[in-house]
Amino acid sequence: MRTQVGIVGAGPAGLMLSHLLSREGIDSVIIEDQSRAYVESRIRAGVIESWAADLLVETGVGARMQREGLVHEGIAIALNGERRRIDFKRLTGRGIMVYGQHEVVKDMIKARLAAGGQIEFEITEASVHDFDGRAPKIRYKQGGEAREIACDFIAGCDGFHGICRPSIPNGVLTEFERILPLGWLGILSQSPPPAPELIYSYTDRGFALYSMRSPTVSRLYLQCAPDEDLANWPDDKIWKELKARLGPGGDKLLQEGKVLEKGVTAMRSFVVEPMQTGRLFLAGDAAHIVPPTGAKGMNLAIADVLFFSQALAEFYRSGKTALLEDYTQKCLERVWKAQRFSWWMTSMLHLNPDDGPSDRRRQWAELDYVTSSEAASKSLAENYVGLPIE
Ligand code: APR
Ligand code: PHB
Repeated sequence: MRTQVGIVGAGPAGLMLSHLLSREGIDSVIIEDQSRAYVESRIRAGVIESWAADLLVETGVGARMQREGLVHEGIAIALNGERRRIDFKRLTGRGIMVYGQHEVVKDMIKARLAAGGQIEFEITEASVHDFDGRAPKIRYKQGGEAREIACDFIAGCDGFHGICRPSIPNGVLTEFERILPLGWLGILSQSPPPAPELIYSYTDRGFALYSMRSPTVSRLYLQCAPDEDLANWPDDKIWKELKARLGPGGDKLLQEGKVLEKGVTAMRSFVVEPMQTGRLFLAGDAAHIVPPTGAKGMNLAIADVLFFSQALAEFYRSGKTALLEDYTQKCLERVWKAQRFSWWMTSMLHLNPDDGPSDRRRQWAELDYVTSSEAASKSLAENYVGLPIE
């Protein structure tokens, strides 16, 4: 089979790329090694920056998000239970959209298929070839049968553990990696969140985050070890700790519910430079991972594919390659700013096992400053709602 852009991975990056390209009249095919049901139910983050929410709406895939998503105009930072609000709307004029990543994935798969887009699920043995020339190829198996996609460009949207990045010859990429001694134990619960807005809670027991997917479904996280064994965390222990990290009165504020999902995420910062070689372009988690504290992962994936789709549109319109050549530079400017913000939020809010009493006092001073100074809270707010794009 032949297409213009062969896309590996049907996460937010691959799906949004295919969607944006179709609007430019550019043909693409997506291959995905998981099933449709699996990718549509995989629980991930749930905060969409305001420009990205606008982009989903403007390009026709935001209707359900507008109906069911929750627009938040601020967050709370709690210091040992004392909640202080950061008012995004007042500080930046904008808010954020709280809507699960898997809901975005569902909406985009539906839109792609309705528009005649091609997504091959449950493929195996994907491999990428000849991207140093003008005729790259993707090979894979579908139901045991060997297939090939001949294309002009390959988009590696296959996440951190995908095959595209490792297919790039040694010596081309420089990897920047920082593995943090921190993890999050996350649950999804059939119960209302403790407050209508997200609470980032700094406590002597460690960090906790109280987020949500809807007024009746909470997404709650506890700071834990990166290799924390879930077997040591029966539901009642999780609830007890979540209540304790909400501060005084936490047991009354937090309603328990049926635990729908439970998992541990280890934290890392990771970036490759460049994000492209020849006609293979990486986007999203395939090229970079941020610690989750700033909720930037999905937003960076969407920004990458917006830039890539613009570059491809220019190329197919005029034959010009300037934007394609600029792709890495354009993405990484944003990626490193998101790395900085996520690192800063993470280091300010977590109990770092290597820290001593002076570090704790400095963190306290920083949180006190960020929640009381107009300038400092504005800096947090403008990064959280999303830096300007374009
Ligand atoms: N062949 C085909 N598909 C693959 C392969 C492979 N060899 N390896 C991985 N995939 C698929 C995965 O199953 C997944 O559906 O690629 C997709 C990658 O999607 P994501 O991991 O969601 O990555 P991305 O689209 O870049 O979105 C980034 O996801 O992990 C979160 O926090 C992150 O929110 C961010 C977002
Ligand atoms: C989430 O709702 O899953 C979430 C929200 C904010 C974060 C991280 C995750 O910073």
